[in-house]
Amino acid sequence: MSQTVSSNNKGASIEIDRLAKTFGSVRAVDDVSLTIEPGEFVALLGPSGSGKSTVLMSVAGFERPSAGRIMIGGKDCTRLPPNKRDIGMVFQHYTLFPHLSVGDNVAFPLKMRGVAKAERRRQAEAALEIVRLGGYGDRMPKQLSGGQQQRVALARAIVYNPQVLLMDEPLSALDKNLREEMQIEIKRLHAELGFTVVFVTHDQGEALTMADRIAILKAGRLQQVSPARELYERPSNLFAASFIGEMNMLPVQWDGANATFSEREHIRLPDSASIETVPSGRAVLAVRPERLSVTSPGETGSWRATVSDVVYAGAGSLLITHLHDGSEVRLRVASAGQAPVRPGQAIGIKVPPEAALLYPADAAR
Ligand SMILES: Nc1ncnc2c1ncn2[C@@H]1O[C@H](COP(=O)(O)OP(=O)(O)OP(=O)(O)O)[C@@H](O)[C@H]1O
Ligand SMILES: [Mg+2]
Repeated sequence: MSQTVSSNNKGASIEIDRLAKTFGSVRAVDDVSLTIEPGEFVALLGPSGSGKSTVLMSVAGFERPSAGRIMIGGKDCTRLPPNKRDIGMVFQHYTLFPHLSVGDNVAFPLKMRGVAKAERRRQAEAALEIVRLGGYGDRMPKQLSGGQQQRVALARAIVYNPQVLLMDEPLSALDKNLREEMQIEIKRLHAELGFTVVFVTHDQGEALTMADRIAILKAGRLQQVSPARELYERPSNLFAASFIGEMNMLPVQWDGANATFSEREHIRLPDSASIETVPSGRAVLAVRPERLSVTSPGETGSWRATVSDVVYAGAGSLLITHLHDGSEVRLRVASAGQAPVRPGQAIGIKVPPEAALLYPADAAR
């Protein structure tokens, strides 16, 4: 069957320009600017209450910004109602109409847009085929599983071929297997149909695997907008560093070249642009557990540590160690080909200087 949801849609750009939204005294969104390219997949990631939904609802038109501008496809939409914005929306809960059949649920936006009945049916069935639910049109929502219901919600969001798809934690109500299946499904649809996606999640793994770029929010403010790898390898501040993945954080004294901690241990850091911006004095040294390795205690340049715990986890092991001053350092090491390490053992920890990140101590906001 030919699919009427066209595949030559390039998606629309979205420009969020100095967006602010206050609810009483709460600054839910505080001066957020973000430009999203046509066809790009951007995840909004952040802790609960950081303003993710408020940003999304402002783009959708369900929230009226207190300040700032929303442009979609180069057009100022700040004052347009949601149905005039050429967007599809999927929410956390399926929000299907329980008294309407699956087909009528999917056709609903078309009905709102005055599409004739026969054409509605045809387009709804095509959208259901795209989410692999062809033939389910006559069922009622409650006769479907959670994952199937969320696919119906997805079909309803794309049925009128919008240039932008906005999703607010669309998978968080699903169990792990279904969630992973739907992640793949959404990525496939995105590749096939080419719309621009803004995807809200507080699951960092989901953001890292799905998005072209990830925007991190904290307390209504944008912290960093980067592709996954850059965000993981070069977090731009302490918050981003601690929010994504595992990170060892050690308080240090920084003199412009050496970071000293634990009374005797220090590390000389290679020159880099990010280090130049850290003033001398108290600072935080951050290093990912998988960048550290075990060496013999006392080896030049290594840190002396005592192993407290070894957690075997199949392909790798987690070593929990303590430095001389009591600070904890975690290592992720491959299980294969390593001499076994035991609790109580003295080891050296080898730290590649280029893996060490340095932040001003008071940078956590
Ligand atoms: N309608 C509202 N009235 C008052 N305060 C609101 C309203 N909507 C959101 N807020 C507040 O604005 C802030 C941001 O909320 P928002 O829902 O955008 O966060 P979120 O990042 O989506 O969180 P979550 O991950 O829990 O969904 C919170 O402090 C919230 O309490
Ligand atoms: Mg939310």
